[in-house]
Amino acid sequence: MSRPHVLVARAVFPETLARLREHFEVDANPDDTVYTPAQLIERLQGKAGAFTTGSERIDAAVLAACPQLRVVANMAVGYNNFDVPACTAAGVLCTNTPDVLTETTADFGFALMMATARRMAESEHFLRRGEWRKWSFDMFTGSDVHGATLGILGMGRIGQAIARRGALGFGMRVIYHNRSRLAPEQEAPIGARYVDKATLLREADHLVLVLPYSAQSHHAIGAAELSLMKPTATLTNVARGGIVDDAALAQALRERRIAAAGLDVFEGEPAVHPALLNCPNAVLTPHIASSTSPTRRAMVQLAVDNLLAWAEGRPGPTPI
Ligand code: DGY
Repeated sequence: MSRPHVLVARAVFPETLARLREHFEVDANPDDTVYTPAQLIERLQGKAGAFTTGSERIDAAVLAACPQLRVVANMAVGYNNFDVPACTAAGVLCTNTPDVLTETTADFGFALMMATARRMAESEHFLRRGEWRKWSFDMFTGSDVHGATLGILGMGRIGQAIARRGALGFGMRVIYHNRSRLAPEQEAPIGARYVDKATLLREADHLVLVLPYSAQSHHAIGAAELSLMKPTATLTNVARGGIVDDAALAQALRERRIAAAGLDVFEGEPAVHPALLNCPNAVLTPHIASSTSPTRRAMVQLAVDNLLAWAEGRPGPTPI
């Protein structure tokens, strides 16, 4: 029986390709080229499946040009690169990789928030530039994390994991805003208080964004929202670029209307708004919140498990 053809759209671990090759005819991308939409369509010709990352957009145009496509397995929990209704209408199964990255991403989100509050990147750059001549009483004074108010926008699995770190590890007061309120038994152990978005912005000392990107969350944080925040507050984004209006944020950081920002994701990444690059009070990292070796392996494995389940006609572990 002929085996299904799949595209592995980005470079992956060699053992992942070996596992896939036991079941599929595999078209790999060892050079890790980020395909343009036209290249993606070309590579997908004759393929029933695709292993994708956030950099491949599967939309109505791709679906129309690739009628043999039946399954797309994203190596990411976020799936804003998929037009899910269009995939469903075309009979294409979409899968993602939730859960396996929750704690790792929460570790990073919390670390980025702390680095931002305590000015770690700015002070490290100062030291590396050879500018450290003497200790002084007000050198790089930041803001406290312990005992402060942690605001979470988007209280899904990762938001709750960050809230646990804040409440149970650092004695933080947790407030949050989300599409739906958590059950009382989820709120109680961390003392989380559900508030409206304006209250969240006004009261948070450290605001962390963990909501999915969609047309509704585009620029959820723009000039108007930033103007509600405390001048001493920090903003951390480990969700998706486009949730924050980066130009408005850069202006707020420059004018010290908020104290600092920690950003792992950017509008139009890997390009970064040039004004952000010039903000010393921004800690900038290249979309690595889920990047530990065990977690990236678990994400790849889960994406492959989804492809194998589809090939064997079984329900997959994590359909969208
Ligand atoms: C995710 O899993 O959504 C991360 O952002 C990696 O793309």
